[in-house]
Amino acid sequence: MLSYIIKGKTKLSGKAEASGSKNAALPIIATAILNPEPITLYNIPNIEDTRITLEILKILGCTVEKKNDKITICSKNMNKTTIPKELMHKLRSTVVLAGAIIGRFKKATFAFPGGCNIGARPIDLHLEAFKKLGIDIEEKDDIINCTCKEIIGKRIKLRFPSVGATENIILASVYAKGATHITNAAKEPEIKDLARCLNSMGAKVYGAGTSEITIFGVRQLHRTTYKIISDRIETGTLLCAAAGTGGNITIKNANPENLLTVLYSLKEAGCQITLSKNSIKLKAPKKLKAINIKTEPYPGFPTDMQPIIGAILTKAEGESIIEENIFENRFKYADELSRMGANIEIKDKKLIIKGVDNLYGKEVMSKDLRGGAALVIAGLMSEGITKVENIEYILRGYENLDEKLINLGANIKKEKVV
Ligand code: EPZ
Repeated sequence: MLSYIIKGKTKLSGKAEASGSKNAALPIIATAILNPEPITLYNIPNIEDTRITLEILKILGCTVEKKNDKITICSKNMNKTTIPKELMHKLRSTVVLAGAIIGRFKKATFAFPGGCNIGARPIDLHLEAFKKLGIDIEEKDDIINCTCKEIIGKRIKLRFPSVGATENIILASVYAKGATHITNAAKEPEIKDLARCLNSMGAKVYGAGTSEITIFGVRQLHRTTYKIISDRIETGTLLCAAAGTGGNITIKNANPENLLTVLYSLKEAGCQITLSKNSIKLKAPKKLKAINIKTEPYPGFPTDMQPIIGAILTKAEGESIIEENIFENRFKYADELSRMGANIEIKDKKLIIKGVDNLYGKEVMSKDLRGGAALVIAGLMSEGITKVENIEYILRGYENLDEKLINLGANIKKEKVV
């Protein structure tokens, strides 16, 4: 088991750069399954989630070549359509591989991804959409078998703007007969990036980034080279690390358009924010002001930033209320923050945080990816030594987080606990 040992309190200042977006990388890697021609991708973050996804593609018969900062994937000789069950359970987002496999091979077998620490995370919206596209679905125990003669483009209205379901419908519809139209599609920037990547190889996906997306079926795709967007949640995490420690930071190669609600909230909390086309500067006040947050589908405040902004509001002036509307179990980090001296009360889907003057280093446990990042930030804000355990969760979604924080002045090191 790996841990971070953090010596607080330190002001974080200087320049940083987010890695490629985890949540764009996963569906974009899946496009390699659709395309028998080689695709070359840049800016794919080297994190556990992308390593597992690339491992699955190799198991399915794809070639994956990493060279410097590029990855070339070719699925020409891909000969399997079953996603290994143990890897599916390890990484639920591999469910989008199913859409690509069915899109190309008209069949796929995979296991229910299962819930994770932030909620049940069913895939009913994915399966309902697959059925509408003419895909036969057979469920036996926790294995799902999908088959079809061909995929027929259809109008699909999503009950909830699910990111994964939107991505799966797009991937499954690239070679469909006719056109598919999604209403109430998710609008996250990662979906726009997926569409841009698909269109660069000859697909016809229109409207991504809005709630109305149309995919006109094509007969074939061609090779492409594509650079994915930077990670807006990692950008927000680094900004919050500076905001929570009274620091001063510049994030380069960041697109402010992709995290406007986070920037607005940080400004509301008293930070000075300066934006350029591809950089964000933040200067924190001595003490943040309490603010209220409600998580919503994009472009609302992102649920992935909820634990992270929760951490920095523990020392704000006044009472903050955070409402989590996307996942049913995303407050697990709150208990650990309370052990560090925070004054937090959970009421249904709300966190009530009364600002305190200080946090104190403790041994705490990561229970999920973003909750773990929140504990790291709390450690930077605390008196004394904080040991964050189970950081394997954090390493799933953040590339070289400790190195980036050290470059900003943090006293943090990784420790292997046998
Ligand atoms: C994506 O998950 C992201 N993951 C999540 O980021 C992010 O929190 C989430 O979108 C919301 O923005 C990736 O992109 C790999 P959803 P996804 O389908 O696609 C319910 C992180 O920290 N739902 O939009 O799984 C679901 O239970 C991760 O980087 C159904 O009910 O999210 C949840 O309550 C965490 N049925 C809500 O919708 C379905 O079929 C949002 O889920 C699908 C989802």
